[in-house]
Amino acid sequence: MAGEHLKTIINCAMSADGKIALKSRRQTKISDEQDKKRVHELRNSVDAILVGVDTVLSDDPKLTVKEKYVKNPKHPIRIVLDSDGRTPTDALVLNGAAKTIIVTNERCGKTFPNAEVIRCGKEDVDIERLVQELERRGIRKMLVEGGSKVIWSFLRTHIADEVCIFIGSMVIGGDSAPTPAGGPGAEDEKDIVHMRLKDAEVLGSGVLVKYEVVK
Ligand SMILES: NC(=O)c1ccc[n+]([C@@H]2O[C@H](COP(=O)([O-])OP(=O)(O)OC[C@H]3O[C@@H](n4cnc5c(N)ncnc54)[C@H](OP(=O)(O)O)[C@@H]3O)[C@@H](O)[C@H]2O)c1
Repeated sequence: MAGEHLKTIINCAMSADGKIALKSRRQTKISDEQDKKRVHELRNSVDAILVGVDTVLSDDPKLTVKEKYVKNPKHPIRIVLDSDGRTPTDALVLNGAAKTIIVTNERCGKTFPNAEVIRCGKEDVDIERLVQELERRGIRKMLVEGGSKVIWSFLRTHIADEVCIFIGSMVIGGDSAPTPAGGPGAEDEKDIVHMRLKDAEVLGSGVLVKYEVVK
């Protein structure tokens, strides 16, 4: 039934010192095989997977479900937050392997091969309005896979319901390497996003921690 609440789960992998990529923002391997299997199973359980355009530009992810981890995968809708339409036409999210939606602001007139465009917001994508539109379309469960700025936006607005972090056993270091939640961050104590610890378990070579966002 249209209009039902969209459950939003944030998932990311970070090093033991809280970094999600190299300081150049280039992707580096943090998840191990067991975590990858968990992530692909999680992807297969949702209706949509969302990332920011800077993740598309730095990692060029496919955002599909690998047959290696899930038999007969269903390939959720891929969604990219991309105000000015910077997604390259040869990006793997535009490979036609699953439905893709590029979400731009209202001023952007760009179109993309193999993708629908939703225009939403004056500058950045207005994620509260986007969520309403996705709910209207019957999307019930969405995975937010990053990066740093997008995760902060979903936490700051309290749209996120759950946060799963895989902590890999490594140190990346550096002051400027991205962390799970970047963007402007909390200005003040009142802006801090509080979470309730739900679970923590050893997974493969790391630790998987799950939180519920306090609304
Ligand atoms: N370890 C992991 O699990 C993991 C997963 C994913 C990514 N990453 C890493 O994360 C890094 C990329 O993160 P990032 O913070 O640079 O970029 P990002 O969060 O992937 O994308 C941010 C961009 O999205 C666009 N955007 C549009 N509307 C937005 C909104 N309402 N809120 C936030 N962003 C919005 C903005 O670009 P426009 O202004 O052009 O629209 C913004 O600059 C890379 O280093 C990548 O490797 C790590």
